[in-house]
Amino acid sequence: MTAALVCAACQRRRPATSPDVECDCGGLFDVETGAVARRGRALRRLFDDRLGHDPAGQGSGVWRFRELVLPGRGVIVSHPEGNTPLYRRPALSAWAGLDDLALKHEGENPTGSFKDRGMTVAVTQAARAGATAVACASTGNTSASMAAYASQAGLPALVFVPAGKVAAGKLAQALAYGARTLMVKGDFDACLRLVREASRQLGITLLNSVNPWRIEGQKTIIFELLQQRGWQPPDWIVVPAGNLGNTAAFGKALREARQLGLIRRLPRLAAVQARGANPFYRSFRAGFRRRFQVQAETVATAIRIGDPASHERAVRTISETRGLVAQVADAQILEAKAAVDRAGIGCEPASAAAVAGVRQLVRAGTIRPGEAVVAILTGHLLKDPQTVIDFHLGGGRHANPPVEIEPSVQAVARLLR
Ligand code: F0G
Repeated sequence: MTAALVCAACQRRRPATSPDVECDCGGLFDVETGAVARRGRALRRLFDDRLGHDPAGQGSGVWRFRELVLPGRGVIVSHPEGNTPLYRRPALSAWAGLDDLALKHEGENPTGSFKDRGMTVAVTQAARAGATAVACASTGNTSASMAAYASQAGLPALVFVPAGKVAAGKLAQALAYGARTLMVKGDFDACLRLVREASRQLGITLLNSVNPWRIEGQKTIIFELLQQRGWQPPDWIVVPAGNLGNTAAFGKALREARQLGLIRRLPRLAAVQARGANPFYRSFRAGFRRRFQVQAETVATAIRIGDPASHERAVRTISETRGLVAQVADAQILEAKAAVDRAGIGCEPASAAAVAGVRQLVRAGTIRPGEAVVAILTGHLLKDPQTVIDFHLGGGRHANPPVEIEPSVQAVARLLR
């Protein structure tokens, strides 16, 4: 069950323990997992049995699927993470125009986003390969997650964030967990270019989703949601799309799940971008014959990305799942966020893009009301509390401003009337 790295562009191979995350030709490596001993029902049973008791996987929703993620022996750096809920709320389904909308809340991971699933695997692999330091570029979530796992592994961590453009909650986490935090005068795309070059030249392990082990960990969002549905795939999986790591990971997970007989049919995947940060949408509209770069601008800071790194492997996902790419305006994102928040669930704006996408696709007749849909909420409501408070103080349509009162029961009674 040994794995190897294969360059997606030139097919060159490297051992799994190679410190390189990018090929000399500029292509990205994919992990090629070796043969898995069980298939189909036996493999499903192995994973299901671990739901009760799984000391080797430390109760993690990532390491439960270890044969498909990072086989082999050695320590694992796990919080643990995963085991996120699938929420169903009739009011939200109705809002989206569906009978059955489920939300898989990846914001309920330990540091508040899906990044923890990729980070546990990438940091584990970095530690096993003898890394001396780790680094990432981030709009917030990646940095918080990396900082936590690096601290657990005892590895120095370098975080590159766009100066003045990182949410307070996330900056707080990176600093608190002890990462050296660099405010770069530039946007996320500039941070990513810089950290890629710096990692190459300085021998630091890069932990953005160009690192193939991040993708392996993020596959477990799909494995876990299939398991939660008794291994019955939904009709659609809808995900917000920025740097396209998740879109890439989901395609790989679904391909492997089918090859291993975990499922018989593939759900369709819809990747949703913000209109102001839509290079992948543009490429989709051009039949994927062209790749685009844009100057990204959107309220959804996590997907404010103009030149997505995992473009090629995301194209493969959309093609193989008969999927599609949609775009939504910032106003739609904020409306969807208000609906998710009001349902008592809550999420960050980038996550709400997926829910806005669902509603738009239902209205367009692309998704039918009776189809089963799972949308992925990628991040937590509390990433950026100030923006949420400003929204509610702003007096807009869904605003719920606080009320100042005298400290008397009469004042409370007046409010109830
Ligand atoms: N949703 C959230 C909450 C994110 O933080 C990100 C990416 C995405 C969606 C986009 O996912 O790149 O796999 O398409 N956040 C990165 C960060 C950029 O730095 O935390 P993708």
